[in-house]
Amino acid sequence: MSHAEDHEGTRRDFLYYATAGAAAVTAGAAVWPLVNQMNPSADVRALSSIRVDVSGVAEGTQLTVKWLGKPVFIRYRTEKEIEEAREVPLSDLVDPVARNANLKGEALATDENRALDDTGAWLVMMGVCTHLGCVPLGEAGDFDGWFCPCHGSHYDTAGRIRKGPAPENLPVPVAEFADESTIVLG
Ligand code: FES
Repeated sequence: MSHAEDHEGTRRDFLYYATAGAAAVTAGAAVWPLVNQMNPSADVRALSSIRVDVSGVAEGTQLTVKWLGKPVFIRYRTEKEIEEAREVPLSDLVDPVARNANLKGEALATDENRALDDTGAWLVMMGVCTHLGCVPLGEAGDFDGWFCPCHGSHYDTAGRIRKGPAPENLPVPVAEFADESTIVLG
């Protein structure tokens, strides 16, 4: 190898490592707000509770609201969406944990453990992909749920990750019905 080739190789290696290092920093910066979001302290939660009027949300549609600086998907699911989600064996799930802040411990990711109400009609989730934090698109992907176009993560009609690089189901935030048409977040 000539001296010139040797130098060239060294330079390429340097560029490679520099690029890889920058990617790692970017990933860390994108992931931090999501992790932070999922563990708000009690006082932050109390201050940031919001009420959402869902009386205008039709079956088969979704309302997206901004809460704590992040999108939250509030979906009024169809019977078909609920059925599809409930038919999935737990063994098919990438992430078997419900990721539901309303449940204690590591509840299993059944559809019943993710929906807001007993009928399963309402599903409330953070609209933040658990890979690197993009906002997934609704009614899209291979499982009729949500699809994150950033790197191709497919979520099912219960917001559970089924395919692609995202490691976890879309998190369900603290939420409840205050009355029949109002959902309180936080
Ligand atoms: S951010 Fe990478 S797949 Fe969603």
